[in-house]
Amino acid sequence: MDSIKLGVNIDHAATLRQARGVDYPDLVEIARLVEGAGAHGITIHLREDRRHIQDADVYNLRRTLTTRMNLEMANNPDVVRVALDVVPDEVCLVPERRQELTTEGGLDAAGQLDALRPTVQALAAQGTHVSLFVAPDRRQLEAAAALGAPYVELHTGAYANATGDDLKRELEAIYDAAAYGATLGLKVNAGHGLTMTNVKPLLTIPNLDTLNIGHSIIAHALFVGVAQATRDMLAAIAR
Ligand code: PXP
Repeated sequence: MDSIKLGVNIDHAATLRQARGVDYPDLVEIARLVEGAGAHGITIHLREDRRHIQDADVYNLRRTLTTRMNLEMANNPDVVRVALDVVPDEVCLVPERRQELTTEGGLDAAGQLDALRPTVQALAAQGTHVSLFVAPDRRQLEAAAALGAPYVELHTGAYANATGDDLKRELEAIYDAAAYGATLGLKVNAGHGLTMTNVKPLLTIPNLDTLNIGHSIIAHALFVGVAQATRDMLAAIAR
């Protein structure tokens, strides 16, 4: 099995900065440390409400990243404009609700084919790899394939929050979706709510490309520093 790549989501370093409206911690420096520790990419979410990542961060990181930039965003014209200007390596389209603490569910790609198609096509035309953040649900994977998105990212939040029988069911849904995605020709990423512990059962998914992990790495970094936290997660996902 190929090794799994790690995209480190650094949104919550920006959350810390925005909590005080200051200019530290320096996100470019955080990304430099994360990349130096071996991460395969940097993930940032430019939310409509700009609660953590700011437009200037996207431009600064685009200039300075030495790995891949994965920009998460809603299909919102204001944010799509930024993505078309910045040309990230990857864009992951996510649903957004103003009041949510974090991206709570997957994108209803199947229900929004017409709205998503022009965005997917415009991003693809500039060479950005488009990913759709979807629940591990066959219908949503079929929609991603119909839209011509090369990637899906499976939302692992329900799995991360589940216990008992639900946990087994959620894990099976992820395995099924990953296998089904491969039959549709999709590359399969996953993320949300993953930790060094709950990531373990995902490591035997044969065709998993990249895990995008943020909150738990930034939290662990309070104890060990962001470079070591990245190395620890890389060790946790090694197979
Ligand atoms: N992938 C996507 C599409 C996300 O929206 C998020 C959260 O921004 C993550 C991965 C990372 O989730 P977490 O911070 O819980 O690791």
